[in-house]
Amino acid sequence: VKIIPIKLKNNPHEVFFGNAITKNLIKIINDKKLHSSFFIIIDANVEKFFGTEIRRIFSKHESKKYYYSFKSSEISKSFLELKNIYSSMLNQKFGRDTLMIAIGGGITGDLAGFAASTFMRGVQLVHVPTTLTACVDSAIGGKTAINFNYYKNMIGTFYQPNFVLCDPNFLTTLPKSELVSGIGEIIKYAFTTNKKFYKIVNNNLDKLLNHDSKVLNEVIVESILFKASVVEQDEKELGLRKVLNFGHTFAHSFERELKHKIKHGEAVNVGILCALYLSYKKNLITSSQLKKYKELPLKLKLNRSLEKVDVEKIYQNMFRDKKNRNQKVNFVLLRDIGEVILDVRAEKGEVISAINEAINSFS
Ligand SMILES: NC(=O)c1ccc[n+]([C@@H]2O[C@H](COP(=O)([O-])OP(=O)(O)OC[C@H]3O[C@@H](n4cnc5c(N)ncnc54)[C@H](O)[C@@H]3O)[C@@H](O)[C@H]2O)c1
Repeated sequence: VKIIPIKLKNNPHEVFFGNAITKNLIKIINDKKLHSSFFIIIDANVEKFFGTEIRRIFSKHESKKYYYSFKSSEISKSFLELKNIYSSMLNQKFGRDTLMIAIGGGITGDLAGFAASTFMRGVQLVHVPTTLTACVDSAIGGKTAINFNYYKNMIGTFYQPNFVLCDPNFLTTLPKSELVSGIGEIIKYAFTTNKKFYKIVNNNLDKLLNHDSKVLNEVIVESILFKASVVEQDEKELGLRKVLNFGHTFAHSFERELKHKIKHGEAVNVGILCALYLSYKKNLITSSQLKKYKELPLKLKLNRSLEKVDVEKIYQNMFRDKKNRNQKVNFVLLRDIGEVILDVRAEKGEVISAINEAINSFS
């Protein structure tokens, strides 16, 4: 078991990491003297694979328990789903002494986190991430959100959990496409952390894709450590935390255009390639750096629907991102591995050709 501290000023907590560590969940809750009214929000797919085991683990605790199982999709990150959660909580007489436990991917964590942060002005929260994306990214850092009027993550809060329990055993049932999506975020860390981690990811991408658990565990822990260090320095994204948006301006725009046809991490991976091309156009990296660095995102396959995407629309979509104010698009670009430049402005022509070149480079 590895314990990774998230050293925040106001809400310091830990990430407990290890294979089969879920069996320790109750012990950690007890050790931390958390509340014993458990409102468990669980992804229906996770329940299908692990429901019996999870219920057995919780049965060891003499607590009030309620399982709220739901089918996760971007559509369920909504006011309607929230309303159902609040109603269930009230119907089941949950109060301020609730411990909300979110078991699932990023959708579950974002939705449950938002519910926990708002129900009766905030109840205790534990994240149990079950996708690679959730383990390396969404369960860390305290961002919660729902979507609104087709704007992704438009309504949300910053709300830190009491702890995170990351058990890579959950990942054994993850569909390959979801594993690949998580790898997209890991590739983002490869570029934004340091050369050592970049090398590990670049040299072991096939192992990651084949679910080699030794490499996977090593990379998950490094990713958590990196995200923790960024969040510790800039919890509310006033500056430094923007490095985590590397590739994301492009990615969000692809996602808005292609909706459910593209997974987030897949979009991030292509977005990283676009950002590399744009970094070159802005003279931040040389042509030989571009040639070398693009090898990593090119190791993943291009989502076929990107081949016929309307690039003009992708550009226009960028103005609808909540991070872009005053009709200006700000890009997070690269000067070198681990050296990210924030808030770079680019001309429309540069952006459009970066997207075209990135998409064409897959063929
Ligand atoms: N809060 C943050 O900082 C942050 C960071 C990154 C992403 N996000 C959000 O996270 C969401 C994406 O998260 P995600 O990729 O985990 O999606 P997700 O939660 O929808 O999970 C992906 C799919 O995997 C299934 N699943 C989950 N765990 C499983 C398991 N162990 N075995 C089999 N199937 C399983 C789910 O049912 C779903 O179909 C997006 O909404 C994104 O905005 C938030």
